[in-house]
Amino acid sequence: MNAHQLQATAFLTALGRALSVLTLYGEDHPTRTEVEDEVFARLMDFKYLEQIPTITFLDAEVVVNRRPIRELRGWGWGPRLSEVGIQRMEFPSAPNRQDLRLFLEEATHRLTRNRGARAGDGSRQEELLAGVIGASIRFGRVGIGGSRSDEEPVARVVTATLDFSLDEEFGAVSWLQEEVKGGRGLHLAEAEAVVRSLAIAARSHQHVLATLFRPAGGSPGPGMGSHLDPAAQGFATSHAMNVSVLSMALAEFMGMNSGAVRAVGIAGLLHDLGTTRVPPGILTKPGSLTPSERELVERHPADGARLIIRNEERLDLAAVVAYEHHVRYDGSGYPRFRFPRPLHPVSHLVHVCATFDTLLSDRPWRGRWPEDRALEHLLAGAGSEFHPDFARDLVRMIRLERRL
Ligand SMILES: [Fe+2]
Repeated sequence: MNAHQLQATAFLTALGRALSVLTLYGEDHPTRTEVEDEVFARLMDFKYLEQIPTITFLDAEVVVNRRPIRELRGWGWGPRLSEVGIQRMEFPSAPNRQDLRLFLEEATHRLTRNRGARAGDGSRQEELLAGVIGASIRFGRVGIGGSRSDEEPVARVVTATLDFSLDEEFGAVSWLQEEVKGGRGLHLAEAEAVVRSLAIAARSHQHVLATLFRPAGGSPGPGMGSHLDPAAQGFATSHAMNVSVLSMALAEFMGMNSGAVRAVGIAGLLHDLGTTRVPPGILTKPGSLTPSERELVERHPADGARLIIRNEERLDLAAVVAYEHHVRYDGSGYPRFRFPRPLHPVSHLVHVCATFDTLLSDRPWRGRWPEDRALEHLLAGAGSEFHPDFARDLVRMIRLERRL
């Protein structure tokens, strides 16, 4: 562990002790000031070395800035804080005692299922609900990373006058995946550029399905993909692009703003990045997998999340989605959570879109399904495999577009 990780560990250990005291004994316990002093001292140390330190709880993993801390794996307070909406903490400026005290009170208030009144009233209460404490502490669920309020909306492109070729983007995604595979890192600027192009291309078609790539025997959509060499298109690349497009379309259909839509597009593009770690041949094996092969496949969500967070801390949403995209709405699927907790809504969204795209694709073990059959499958699984809101809205979106 480096010095910063040591300080993060010391801070979280002190925080855990303080939360134990406060949740068990309440605010009047005589050691309250003592445990608060300790958390404050450790927080000052932690803040000292990094400009804006952040801590994220991903299931059993504690991620400090961009690195999971091995020694804190399974830290019991992580899942408990996540469950009450404190999945990420950020310290933008030097903390003071009063801010820390408010944070501890708010965390205790949530952890004890709202026994006792929330600190302050009026605007202070609103700030606490929004996860803002003074200028020094921010907390909340992992957000839609990368969304910026000053971001200009995605340009509307005149329909049917542009014949888009996404060959370059396809090449860029292939290259991004190769770079990750070769351990040369994740190139965020290129990923963002691809997502921008996909957003514009999707808007140039009246039907989002027309934007999707269908390599290896499938029929590519009109206006794009048709002039690409199907043999050169891996499923991984087309799936990443398709899930990005579908996820953005659904996010927009459900009313998210343009910054959020773009962040969902990045999460969709990168959700399966961990498959670059699966040995060749397994993902395209026509028959059923052996238990050890299945185990290798089922590692890809955790591998993907780790790859993303290590390379780019701003992509916390994409990391969470990569981690959760094979967990079903009813909690089955993989990875199995040590501590059951709700999934991030964008994980539900990407799960539905990724399943839909896979069903519409030719796979070595089955041919592509007709669109209607795939839509029926989503509806049949709404409430068990899929979050019902996202499954039904995707079906509604596709059926509405078809009537255009
Ligand atoms: Fe996957």
